[in-house]
This record gives sequence, C-alpha cells and structure tokens, in this order.
Amino acid sequence: MGNTVIVGTQWGDEGKGKIVDLLSKHADYVVRFQGGNNAGHTMVVNGKKIISHLIPSGIIQSKKCFIGNGVVVDPFVLLEEIEYLSSMDIDVSPKMLKISNRAHIIMPYHKLIDAAREVKKGDKKIGTTGRGIGPCYEDKATRRGIRFCDLLDFDFFKEKVVTILEEKNFYLEHYFKTEPVDPDTIIHQFQQIKDRLLPYIADVSVILFDGMNNNKTILFEGAQGTHLDIEHGTYPFVTSSSVVSGNAANGSGVGPGNLNEIIGIVKAYTTRVGSGPFPTELFDDIGDKIQKTGSEFGATTGRKRRCGWMDMVVLRNAARLNSLTGLAITKLDVLDDLDEIKICTGYEYKGTLISDFPPEIKILEECTPVYESHQGWKQDISGITKFNDLPDMAKLYLARIEELAKVKIKIVSVGPEREATIIKENIFN
Ligand code: GDP
Ligand code: IMO
Ligand code: MG
Repeated sequence: MGNTVIVGTQWGDEGKGKIVDLLSKHADYVVRFQGGNNAGHTMVVNGKKIISHLIPSGIIQSKKCFIGNGVVVDPFVLLEEIEYLSSMDIDVSPKMLKISNRAHIIMPYHKLIDAAREVKKGDKKIGTTGRGIGPCYEDKATRRGIRFCDLLDFDFFKEKVVTILEEKNFYLEHYFKTEPVDPDTIIHQFQQIKDRLLPYIADVSVILFDGMNNNKTILFEGAQGTHLDIEHGTYPFVTSSSVVSGNAANGSGVGPGNLNEIIGIVKAYTTRVGSGPFPTELFDDIGDKIQKTGSEFGATTGRKRRCGWMDMVVLRNAARLNSLTGLAITKLDVLDDLDEIKICTGYEYKGTLISDFPPEIKILEECTPVYESHQGWKQDISGITKFNDLPDMAKLYLARIEELAKVKIKIVSVGPEREATIIKENIFN
C-alpha cells in the first residue's frame, strides 16, 4: 500500500475510524493531521467498541502513531485517552505515539470561550462540540497560540500564559460577563501534567521524512468531513480546520508529492450533527428509521445525528476537492429494510438546476433536491464478505453512485466490526 489519505466526504461520522483501523494493518505509521478531540472515531474489534478522539485509530493495530502540527491538542484529554487505551492493554507509550512540537495546545480558556460564544449566539449557534477547537485555531492564526514546544521551556510557557490571559480575561469578563481565569491555576495544572507530556513531544515532520526514506508507509487519518472544511464547507457552519486531503501534507509536515492514494469515506446515506444546511435531510418516518437503524448518535457529544438521502452534489464536490482515487461506502447494511432508496443528483433553486455545491447558506437552505428513485434490496447483507454475493439491487445502487461520482468504489462496509467489510478492489499492494 502506498501512502494513503482517508478523508470524510460528507459532514463527518462517515466511518473513518473503522476504515483507518482496517487499513492500518497495511501501514507502518498512522497520522492525524487536523482537528482535535471534536472528532469521535469508532472501531469495533472482537466485539469491543473503542472510540478515539485524538490518538490515531492505528494505535489499536499496534502501529506507530503521530499527532501532526495541524492538530489542536487538549493535553488533559490526551492523557485521559492514553489511560483509557492503556487500560485495554493497548501500548500508548512514547515509543508508539509522538506529538508534533509545533501542534497547538487547547487551553482551558479556549473551552470557556467556545461555550460562552455558543450561549451568546442563541438559536444562531454553530452547534460546536464545545471542545475549544475554534478558539484554539483562532489564536494560532492571530499568533497568540501556545505550542507543545513551549512546554520545553516552562518559564517561557508561564510568561505566555500570563500575557495571553490579560486579553482573554478582559474578553471573558466584559464581553461574555463570565468569570475570569486565574493564570496561577492554569500554570499549576500544566505543572502537574508537563512531565508526562514531554516524552511524547517530537519533530514529527522529520520522523515521517526519515521513515519514508526507509520505505515506511503512512496512513493519514482525516477527521470531520469535506463539508465541514473551513474553506469549502457550509461556512460558517463548519469546523475551524482544513479537512480536505491537501491538508494531510501540510498538517503533518510531509510534502504533497508523498500522498499516493486518497480514499473518500461515504456513508450510504447522509448525516450531520450540529447546525447548518443539509439539503437532503429527512424529517419523516424514513429519516427516523435510518437514525434508529444506524444508531446515529454523535460519538463525541452523544447528540442525535440528522439523517437524509445520499447527495451526489456533495459527493462530486468531495471527489474534486480531495482528488479522490477511490471510495469506501459504509453502513450500506443500514438501508437493508427500505422499500425505496433515493439519490439526490442536483438541486433546484428558483427554476434553475444546480449541480455544483454553492457557497450561499440561503441557497442550500432553500433549494429542493432532485431525486432519482432506487428499489431497495430488502435483505440482510451484514454477513456478506464478497462483492458478488450482494443482492442485485444493492449492486445497482453502488454502480449508480460510482457512475455519478466518477470515482471507483474500492471498499464496501456492511457492519461496524472490522470483519464486516467487502474489499472490492485491492489497494494493499
Ligand atoms: P467517524 O467519525 O467517521 O470515524 O465515524 P463515527 O465513529 O463517528 O460514526 C460511525 C458509526 O458507524 C460508528 O458507530 C461505527 O461503529 C459505525 N459503523 C461504521 N461502519 C459501519 C457499517 O458499515 N455498518 C454499520 N451498521 N455501522 C457502521
Ligand atoms: P468526526 O471526525 C461530525 C461539527 C460540530 C459542529 C461543527 C463545529 O468524528 O467525523 P467544532 O467543535 O469543530 O467547532 O464544531 O462541526 N463537527 C463534527 N461533526 N463529526 C465530527 O468529527 C465533527 N467534528 C466537528 O458538530 O457542527
Ligand atoms: Mg465521528
């Protein structure tokens, strides 16, 4: 397998964790390159469910894992996750995990600002995960951020905290009318955990470069989905990082020429958590049925996911933006019981047909999806492991997606377990 990037094509929760876990077996290194613990990636191995928020899913397959410079890391959550995985006899020692010295730290005040901002926005809120992701990326862009390398010189770290808090406390007290943060408390909290973090800090870009020179293969684990991308998503109802495959290079300090295969993960229908436009959203019994059958609850916040039909305007957009070389279709089994399955091929807005994903929220909210109808297969497919054994109607549904996306389907997932997977085209050689 060449260096492979896994990205979500919709609004997140497509099943990236499951596919990364599956493909990790064929990689040497697994790298997260953006986002933070707003992500929730689920793996089911030997009947056991494991959710990772920060540490790459490849840790389950005992692969060397890296958190790249493009990730924002809450060190307290990281240590909790290390404990959680260690309690399951998974090796998360510094030998197995490295964090980029350039990665930015999510500070306690980032979480307070994230929460206060959502409260102030009222019904116009983004519906963030409340993990401080946006405020941390914001400080990175305004050059006030604190990075992991700053922990190596603790006096410098302390100075930075004191300076930054002058501004943050003014904002918290006078704009949000909430309690200020005591710099000594924060410094003390970091003093307590610093020594546990230090052995994990490294120059990830250099290690990955050396690894590739020694024929090591890298799997890049995207978080969120293309339509939550800060540049290309349903702005402002997006996350604060670049989610698309191009950022796999930038967010891990690897040159773009090193990305060989780019697999887009696509749920066989569409879901979204949080606010924002969703043209194919279902508000009827079928939407409820998909939500229940697919157990569509957020892996990070537990919120109910909104559900709707497959949207090819969305998938074509993702194919172009990510240079997808293949698709992995997940949760096909969730559609087993449906009589009719729809695919959205375009949007109609004020008498015009739209086939390219528009930037205007208003258009996305007011457009009408144009659907084509497909007959359901009405058969349990969760035990099928060979593509040819799928029912004809399921094969037709997949063939139509492939045709409209103009990208080949390489993997089909029919259940949450690692084994519930059909490899249609081998990407491992
Ligand atoms: P991620 O954020 O993209 O990694 O996806 P999540 O883990 O948040 O959500 C995907 C959910 O679907 C998880 O609960 C997975 O265990 C589950 N899942 C993944 N693939 C399949 C599949 O093919 N069929 C079914 N029924 N569940 C799946
Ligand atoms: P994975 O990696 C689904 C959504 C939030 C909110 C918006 C902004 O599991 O697919 P943020 O906390 O990032 O500022 O929230 O983005 N969101 C996700 N939705 N899956 C995710 O990650 C998400 N990460 C963020 O619900 O609408
Ligand atoms: Mg998720």
